[in-house]
Amino acid sequence: MISGTISRISGPVIMAKGMKGSKMYDVVKVGAEALRGEIIRLEGDEAVIQVYEDTTGLTLGEAVENTETPLSVELGPGLLASIYDGVQRPLPVLLKLSGDFIGRGITAPGLDRSKKWAFAPSVKNGDTLGHGDVIGTVKEFQFEHRVLVPPKVSGKVTEIRAGSFTVEEIVCVLDNKIRLPMMQSWPVRIPRPHIKKLDPLLPLITGQRVFDCMFPVTKGGTAMIPGGFGTGKTVSEQTLAKWSDTQIVVYIGCGERGNEMTDVLEEFPELVDPRTKLPLIERTILIANTSNMPVAAREASIYTGITIAEYFRDMGYDVALLADSTSRWGEALREVSGRLEEMPGEEGYPAYLATRLSAFYERAGRVICLGAGERNGSITVVGAVSPPGGDFSEPITQNTLRVVGTFWALDTNLAYRRHFPSVNWIKSYSLYLDCISEWYDKNIARDWRELREKAMYLLQKEVELQEIVQLVGPDALPDSEKAILDVTRMIREDFLQQSAYSDTDSFCPIEKQYLMLKVIMTYYEQANLAMNRGVSLRQVQVLPLKATIGRMKDAGEVDEVRKMIDEVTSAIARLEVER
Ligand SMILES: Nc1ncnc2c1ncn2[C@@H]1O[C@H](COP(=O)(O)OP(=O)(O)O)[C@@H](O)[C@H]1O
Ligand SMILES: [Mg+2]
Repeated sequence: MISGTISRISGPVIMAKGMKGSKMYDVVKVGAEALRGEIIRLEGDEAVIQVYEDTTGLTLGEAVENTETPLSVELGPGLLASIYDGVQRPLPVLLKLSGDFIGRGITAPGLDRSKKWAFAPSVKNGDTLGHGDVIGTVKEFQFEHRVLVPPKVSGKVTEIRAGSFTVEEIVCVLDNKIRLPMMQSWPVRIPRPHIKKLDPLLPLITGQRVFDCMFPVTKGGTAMIPGGFGTGKTVSEQTLAKWSDTQIVVYIGCGERGNEMTDVLEEFPELVDPRTKLPLIERTILIANTSNMPVAAREASIYTGITIAEYFRDMGYDVALLADSTSRWGEALREVSGRLEEMPGEEGYPAYLATRLSAFYERAGRVICLGAGERNGSITVVGAVSPPGGDFSEPITQNTLRVVGTFWALDTNLAYRRHFPSVNWIKSYSLYLDCISEWYDKNIARDWRELREKAMYLLQKEVELQEIVQLVGPDALPDSEKAILDVTRMIREDFLQQSAYSDTDSFCPIEKQYLMLKVIMTYYEQANLAMNRGVSLRQVQVLPLKATIGRMKDAGEVDEVRKMIDEVTSAIARLEVER
């Protein structure tokens, strides 16, 4: 056993000497209370350790014991509806053990050891199994939890059991004496293997028009939501949790305020999955960090989260990993780096910030999973970023935008004007438009992309026109340009704005999204045709079409919106030139 003694203490970071033989990322137990920590640097026989708990009261010379296993998570039935801290300690269990304030050294396993799960095998004696193969299933709430042969394990089945078991009991024995329980564990800092990454050709449907139609992200893609305080990052992440078409959600909440833990613990389990009307938590794993929890646990939380996401991906499911906000993670990294007295990079962040961020987002993707049967699974990562003062030039925003495919820039001015989601349509972008074109062509309509480009063009044009209006007033514009202002207002108010709290509009089916845009663009097209015939814009403007278009959001039936295309066309086409 490797054990040493504390030689230095600096906040969440300690040093221990006599640790010869230790490896990077080994988990250690520090001091009499056995506080958990992780080796993050080795210098000769001295180990630098980040501790996941409050280190006050530790003294020099106290023992440090190396468990000689890397920081890992437990994977198996019981993950769903769990609420963990950054190192997979189940928070509700800890709170029960220690009251309101989680005491030091208190720990509990990530998976409940006493609960029994009904295991239905899907293999039989004599079957040859390779890593990643499904050996059976467990029903966890409404979800089919597939129990997998762990990576690097294979063999012929000599025994397989059906019935009720705890996660530790053996359900399958292989001819090479390997005995498999339902649970497995995996080191969080190492990506779980897969056969092959697939091109991101499928959109993640979120039901949010500004996302799906304007700046889409793919299943297996990456997106970031930077925005100042109050711009809607948390609401956006929660909306994505509710509505994205994934089976599993891993939600990493890094609280902005100290007392947010109670908020998260109490509010999240109350959320209802709008499609099934069941609690959303039943297909969610929640990882809660608050600013009053030790920074090192916060640093680990995104790895814990993505490893859990990979485990569900490996079963062949689509997973959304939502992190709110990665800035808190970056600050944790900065604090630990500062304690290590590393050479600081930009704004005090370590020089490896960029590498860490890209390695994290690199774990997103749609893949062919390990195992027989060609299962496909995906992890889509959406990270919120909270740049101080809303200034996007800071390091976390800049380094994240280099690696993500979609950039949803939230805008303080839009939020102030109550334009929600406050996604700035000029600054935002998606690099996935070409990838998903084929899917949209086949499943929505061939002219979707064209409509989108036209709308975007007009929105850009609007910025120029508004500058002119500011200088000389709206009357100076010709009718053709006034028509642009008419239509961009519709795009903004009747299309881009979408309240997360609306009963009728919080989710908009993709087909309806397309039709809504089509109606608005038809209005513009017909107005132009009419003006070419000599009809004045005024005549178009007095038609009751604005009210019709304003009703689209609340239209319950997609057909209702489809009919509006004809309604708009014929109303404008009927106009006669006034003499
Ligand atoms: N999509 C939305 N629909 C309606 N209101 C929203 C939406 N997004 C944000 N808001 C409003 O903005 C407020 C702040 O949002 P929040 O997500 O807490 O901001 P942040 O996490 O960026 O600080 C919310 O309480 C809500 O009133
Ligand atoms: Mg927030």
